[in-house]
Amino acid sequence: MFTPRSSWADAPAPLRAAVADALGAAVDGHTDLHGGMSPGPAAALRLADGRTVFVKAVSAEVRAHNHLLIRRESGVLDVLPQTVAVPRRLATVERGPWIALVTTWAAGAAGARWTDASIAAVVDACRTASGHRAPAALPPVAERIYDFDGWERVVAAGPADEWEVAYAGRAAELAADWARWTAGDALVHRDLRADNVAVDLAAGSATLLDWAYAAAGVPWLDLAQLAADIVGTGHRLGGRVATDRAYRLIQTLPADAARYVVALVGMWRIRAATAQDSVLPTISTWRRERVLALRPLVTRLITDLTGPAGPALR
Ligand SMILES: Nc1ncnc2c1ncn2[C@@H]1O[C@H](COP(=O)(O)OP(=O)(O)OP(=O)(O)O)[C@@H](O)[C@H]1O
Ligand SMILES: [Mg+2]
Repeated sequence: MFTPRSSWADAPAPLRAAVADALGAAVDGHTDLHGGMSPGPAAALRLADGRTVFVKAVSAEVRAHNHLLIRRESGVLDVLPQTVAVPRRLATVERGPWIALVTTWAAGAAGARWTDASIAAVVDACRTASGHRAPAALPPVAERIYDFDGWERVVAAGPADEWEVAYAGRAAELAADWARWTAGDALVHRDLRADNVAVDLAAGSATLLDWAYAAAGVPWLDLAQLAADIVGTGHRLGGRVATDRAYRLIQTLPADAARYVVALVGMWRIRAATAQDSVLPTISTWRRERVLALRPLVTRLITDLTGPAGPALR
């Protein structure tokens, strides 16, 4: 995506040795992976016993947030139901400020633009996951949702352009009270994006990756997040098809799913304006591009829910 990840070869030797120790096999070779939102390495490791496994690592001194996420994901992977297709945790090792998580390898490709086939496979995977009750150790999803008051803050700060003058107020009203209408007891991944899934097109199936934000919530939540990502990441057939596929997916869900997409875009909008990141300086651009790409969809959703542009609801 936008993160120049470091190479596994540059991770400290004691950390790499501890990973091999924990796996009980020497590492014969590795392939660095790109994508995701961490500056730390992610790689496929080829082991002397014939296995290929996945590893990701980061130093808290480089970006403490990612260190926290890897530690948290280690705990999440241990409590996920066996009947959900997820990578299984093989080892977590810590050496000084470094942490590494090793999991089973997930077949398929990640990070590519969406196709109808990859959307269908991920929809299935989301429905399977949300068909499970969230394990008791996972928090309510409200604790894993941030800045859903984005549109409210845009209104308070002053809309930046004509579109925001017309829509930000109504977007804020639709997003309001999100903690109530996202609450539920289904297992949700909460960070559904093209780079957080492995799609095996030959098998027509998908594995959800990167479970650091897993929580208990409404069962449609990951599908709403997927709809937003179809537009944010893009569809191989172009922007209009992406918006169409996202809209169609949202139509299969309860009306609150449309509010979720509106609120999510408000989150990207306010973060692009207010949250700078010295380790990931391009993240603001990534967020701004998403906000603009999603405008046609958000316009349609707001219009469906509140009528054509006009005076604010209250
Ligand atoms: N089990 C796996 N098997 C194969 N590839 C994987 C696996 N897990 C992740 N990947 C690939 O590696 C990339 C980075 O992994 P992941 O998304 O877990 O890390 P991340 O987004 O950097 O996480 P964090 O934000 O916790 O640092 C993914 O985009 C995906 O392409
Ligand atoms: Mg990721």
